[in-house]
Amino acid sequence: MEKMLFASMMCADYGSLKDEVKALESAEIDVYHVDIMDGSYVPNFGMGLQDLEYIRKATKKLVDVHLMIENPSRYVDFFAAKGVDIIYFHPEADVHPARTIDSIRGKNIKAGIALNPGTSLEFVKPLLGIVDYILVMTVNPGFAGQKYLEYVNEKIEELVELKEKKGYTYELVVDGAISPEKISELSKVGVKGFVLGTSALFGKGKYEEIIPELKKL
Ligand code: DX5
Ligand code: ZN
Repeated sequence: MEKMLFASMMCADYGSLKDEVKALESAEIDVYHVDIMDGSYVPNFGMGLQDLEYIRKATKKLVDVHLMIENPSRYVDFFAAKGVDIIYFHPEADVHPARTIDSIRGKNIKAGIALNPGTSLEFVKPLLGIVDYILVMTVNPGFAGQKYLEYVNEKIEELVELKEKKGYTYELVVDGAISPEKISELSKVGVKGFVLGTSALFGKGKYEEIIPELKKL
């Protein structure tokens, strides 16, 4: 299975966002991952809408938004208008997650649900047949540079099994403390996408050398 690599743009160097995007483009990153936080659903703020707008204009590659916000349904139209390709939201922050998925897909945007380490599979089972992506959080959301939570592996394995058993079409993406070791381990069990932050990409050297290496793992 061909891997999809996502650059977690909150980890980029904001002193030179333009050069960061240029370098990621020539390194052939697959997706720009934009974390949006409202200071309420998670105890942090980020990223700026101006950052999102800049990144969208600077690339033809996929751009996603990971909404770590309360009542995400209120902002589907807003982010759709920014021209993003994928919207993930946390279903426990939404009163009607199934309706929100429909409204994202209704705009011809891929819909994803983001699952916190503490969110059970049982809670989201009814949604598994109607989403394009499942963003499995392997750290608690809100901050870069945390430690990978090994107990999430069980949920990842269950999601892989369910996908095969029920013929679901979602792709699994992992987000949080994803190191080269984790990419190698998880790609073997059926994970397609990897959000790269401080553990594998930013501050680790030249993107055009790192990304092809990570693709090979
Ligand atoms: C939050 C972010 C982070 C982070 C990933 O949703 O996407 O999880 O930037 O990078 P690490 O954990 O490797 O710093
Ligand atoms: Zn994220």
